Amino acid sequence: MRVLGIETSCDETGVAIVDAEAGLIAHRLHSQVDLHAVYGGVVPELASRDHVRRILPLLREVLDEAEMEGTELSAVAYTAGPGLLGALLTGASVARSLAYGWGIPALAVHHLEGHLLAPLLDDASLSFPFLVLLVSGGHTQLIHARGLGDYELLGESIDDAAGEAFDKTAKLLGLGYPGGPALSRLAETGDAGGLRLPRPMLDRPGLDMSFSGLKTAVLTAVQKGSHAPAAIARAFEEAVSDTLVEKTRRALEASGAPALVVAGGVAANRRLRAGLNAMGAAQGVPVFFPRPAFCTDNGAMIALAGLRRLQAGAVDEGLAIRARARWPLAELRLEEAAAGPIG
Ligand code: KG4
Ligand code: ZN
Repeated sequence: MRVLGIETSCDETGVAIVDAEAGLIAHRLHSQVDLHAVYGGVVPELASRDHVRRILPLLREVLDEAEMEGTELSAVAYTAGPGLLGALLTGASVARSLAYGWGIPALAVHHLEGHLLAPLLDDASLSFPFLVLLVSGGHTQLIHARGLGDYELLGESIDDAAGEAFDKTAKLLGLGYPGGPALSRLAETGDAGGLRLPRPMLDRPGLDMSFSGLKTAVLTAVQKGSHAPAAIARAFEEAVSDTLVEKTRRALEASGAPALVVAGGVAANRRLRAGLNAMGAAQGVPVFFPRPAFCTDNGAMIALAGLRRLQAGAVDEGLAIRARARWPLAELRLEEAAAGPIG
C-alpha cells in the first residue's frame, strides 16, 4: 500500500509518498515564508495562488523520486481542514482530481490528526492510546488520543496559541517573521538575568492555558528597557515552556495515558523538548517527538494519516471536494473523514 499525501492548509506546500512497509519514500516541501515575510504574516490569497503554482511540480518530483506512476498508488490523501479555505481548496481539488484520473480513492485528512501521528514517520513503536500536546501556530491543545479518529480534548489555550505567542513576542522584540525559530535562537544567547515572567494559569486547576498576557508582560519589559532583548526572549521561552510542561504533566496524571506525543511547529523548540523529556522521564512516560522538519506542516504526515485511515478501512466515498476552515478534532470519526458542509 502506498499513499500520496498533499498538504496545503496554510503557507507550506507539502507532497509525500508513504509506503505501508518501507515508510516514507519521498517528500518535498515548499515554504512560502519569504512570500509572506514582508507582510509580517500569512496573506491568504497569496498563499492559495502560490499553492497553485507549486503543487504539480512538487508532485512530479515526488513521483520521480519514488520511481512510480500515479496509477500505482493506493490512494491520495489531502488536508481537508482546518486551515485557510482557499489554500485548502487548492490541495483538495488537485488531490480529488488526481484520484479520479488515476482511478483510486481519495482520503480527506484532518490536519491535526496528521500532526499527532507525525512521530510514527520515524518511530513505529508508538501506539494508541497516548496523550498529545499539540503546539502550533493556530492551536495549543492537550488531547487524549484513544485510537485513530478517537480524540478527546482535555484542555486548550483560551486565547493565543503557543506559536502565535512566540510570533507576536518576536515581533515586539523586532525579530522577523515567523518569529518562533528566531526568538528561540536569540533566547539561547540570553541570560534571563533575574527577569521572571508569569506562568499563566498554573495556579488554577484544569488543563486550559492562556498566553496572551505574557505578550503584555514582554511589552512592559521592552518599554522599561531594563533587560536586553536576549534576556527577555529567554524569560519568555522559559515561561511558555514551564507552563506547557506543567499542564502536560497534569494531563498525563488525569488521563493515565501511557505515552506522550508532542507535535506542531513549537515542538521543534529545544527548551520545550528538554523540559518535556525531563518531565516524561520523571513520570516514567515515554515522550515522542516528530523529527524537527516534520513538526511544522508537511505532506509526509498527511500521507501517513491517509495510509492509517486506508488500512483501517476508511475511504472517502463519492467525488466531493472536502474543505473545512474550522473543524474541531473531537468531531473527527474514523468512518466519516470530513462529514458536514463543504466550505
Ligand atoms: O505547525 P505549524 O507549522 O503551523 C500550524 O499549523 O500552525 O507551526 C508553526 C508555528 C509558528 O508559530 C512558529 O513560530 C512556531 O510554530 N515555531 C516555533 C519553532 N519553530 C516553529 N516556535 C518556537 N520555537 C521553535 N523552534
Ligand atoms: Zn500545522
